[in-house]
Amino acid sequence: MNTVSIIEKKKLNQPLTKDEINYIIEGYTKGDIPDYQIAALLMAIRLNGMSDDETFYLTEAMINSGDRIDLSSIEGFKVDKHSTGGVGDKVTLMVAPILAALEIPVAKFSGRGLGITGGTVDKLESIQGFNVELSEEEFIHNVNKYGVAVSGQSKDLCPADKKLYALRDVTGTVDSTTLIASSIMSKKIASGSDGIVLDVKYGNGAFMKTKEDAKVLAEQMAKIGNAFGRDVQYELSDMNNPLGYAIGNKIEVLEVQELLSHHIKNNTDLYDKSLEIAAKMYSMATKESLENSLQKVKEVCDNKKALAKFNEWIASQSGAVEDIAFPKVKNVYKQNSHKSGVIKSVNAKMIGEISVELGAGRKTKESLLDYDAYIILHKKQGDSIVEGDLLVELGFNNDIDYKAQLEKALSAFEIE
Ligand code: URA
Repeated sequence: MNTVSIIEKKKLNQPLTKDEINYIIEGYTKGDIPDYQIAALLMAIRLNGMSDDETFYLTEAMINSGDRIDLSSIEGFKVDKHSTGGVGDKVTLMVAPILAALEIPVAKFSGRGLGITGGTVDKLESIQGFNVELSEEEFIHNVNKYGVAVSGQSKDLCPADKKLYALRDVTGTVDSTTLIASSIMSKKIASGSDGIVLDVKYGNGAFMKTKEDAKVLAEQMAKIGNAFGRDVQYELSDMNNPLGYAIGNKIEVLEVQELLSHHIKNNTDLYDKSLEIAAKMYSMATKESLENSLQKVKEVCDNKKALAKFNEWIASQSGAVEDIAFPKVKNVYKQNSHKSGVIKSVNAKMIGEISVELGAGRKTKESLLDYDAYIILHKKQGDSIVEGDLLVELGFNNDIDYKAQLEKALSAFEIE
């Protein structure tokens, strides 16, 4: 087989065979095929797409490039969730203890932040001592003992995807539905869960800008999952506004703990979205109706069993629960509104970009995070405000031009 002829074929929008896809993925993983040839192929895929069969073969080849996690020693239906990424999206931190409190095992591998979207692993790592690098034995032991474990992906899970993703990131080929679907699903399937609930985001703070595009992606991922014998359900979620009031790492963990403790009002977008997803996961695992599942999920939030499980889970991975507190920063700046009216939206993309400037997200793969850097939205979409009301607060330790960031934060608020 010949790499150039495979590139030529895709350039002419002809379907690739299973053998050709395996040849490419195996050759690239081993280092036999250079980046520049794969970059050309990725661009041809980005421009011409792939059929369902090709997407399945690509996903399969990426799974076979590394280890599969065997969760068979954990009893019960193992249900996973995946968010395609958002600003202020800390739903995993909510649903993991909720499901575990309902005795549904949560065996979850999560990722780090990507661009303006935060990552669960970074958020968990902001808790002093929290171990995000569990061995497979520790991971399974924790799920069996505590009902929940969340770990970073092992190096050996889908190594082909790791290489391809890094190359896509620098060749303008991230935004391909086929490539995103196969990338996400290869990792989900290799992680061994029986069922997966997908939270596919759309809007200015997400990969997919429109709901229609998000639906195409969600359906493609569901098809892949079903082809591998997994139960898949999806939600389409608006990411034009950040989720919750807090954006950052430590502050988002605190927001979850406060929400589960009932210290902050629970009628937020974050609470509703988390309960919706948790109910879908519970329903998938137990086959109970969504209505009953929502009821059960609410119960463990109301009686604080989810909070107790959250604290137990953090401690079970060596995290210092007492360390979950308001972040300590050198600089705090607040921005008040210049007008009165109703907030039409708070631009998630702009807020995400500011969070990266403050140090809560990475500019390059090598960037070190400041776990304490935070943004608090004091007002959200739909809130009425009068001139002079506090809109947003920025907390950080670095030497950025804070005036520019405050101005940008103010312009993120669209007020009518
Ligand atoms: N997340 C992934 O894991 N892969 C993609 O391609 C996009 C988002």
